[in-house]
Amino acid sequence: MEARIGRIRSMKGKQRIAMLTAYDYFTAKVLDEAGIDIILIGDSLGMVILGYDNTLSVTMEDMLRHTGAVVRGTKNALTVADLPVGTFDNNESAVLNAEALIKIGVDAVKIENKPEIARFLVENGIQVMAHVGLTPQTKEFKVQGKNEEGAKEIMLLAKQCEQAGCFSIVLEGIPRDLAKNITKSLSIPTIGIGAGPECDGQVLVTNDMLGLYAKISPKFVKRYAALGEEMRNAFKHYIREVKEGNFPEDKHSFH
Ligand code: KIV
Repeated sequence: MEARIGRIRSMKGKQRIAMLTAYDYFTAKVLDEAGIDIILIGDSLGMVILGYDNTLSVTMEDMLRHTGAVVRGTKNALTVADLPVGTFDNNESAVLNAEALIKIGVDAVKIENKPEIARFLVENGIQVMAHVGLTPQTKEFKVQGKNEEGAKEIMLLAKQCEQAGCFSIVLEGIPRDLAKNITKSLSIPTIGIGAGPECDGQVLVTNDMLGLYAKISPKFVKRYAALGEEMRNAFKHYIREVKEGNFPEDKHSFH
């Protein structure tokens, strides 16, 4: 784990960092084999897998189950799991819940805001990825830090997370120039999502970039495939063949 964290830290300014989410064994395995740097078991799980409207209903039980599956599918990438809302409100519960995830085999946890909690986790030997800007556990879904005051707050928070010992930081839904300034000001890697191209790395929700989640479609998402459409077509094809008696055929039968 230390080597994987060290590798991510050392990529700053040299090599861009590619991060995507996974919630199951198979996706993690494919991502890992494709050469992804970081796999995030995000609490976006609540929306793209469990069908909630936001991330607020995700529990530790959900995170533990899905983190276990992802870890079993990952050999090389650094794995990071979100601490869901309400599980890191104070130092004690943060350590307890983070340790439960670490015990399952994940390399690090991600928390939204709260540099003082991050510091306590780091002091207890837990690697922490910070997350500031548009933080879905507490902020409505719109770009943050657009005015001077908001931008200063996010810059300060990012610096506090670095000082707390976080090994990297996600910058979500903030103006490009602010993300660029934060990236220049910090010695730890910044990973952007809706934060422009000057961050040290980029993350997307895998289901968004594969076209597997159509409920919302933010401007910052780029679609790399239309797997939802492919699935629909395959299911329709199967249904038609079963109804018309064209599947199974003799070659699918035992004699
Ligand atoms: O939960 C998640 O998938 C995330 C990413 C959007 C960074 O936090």
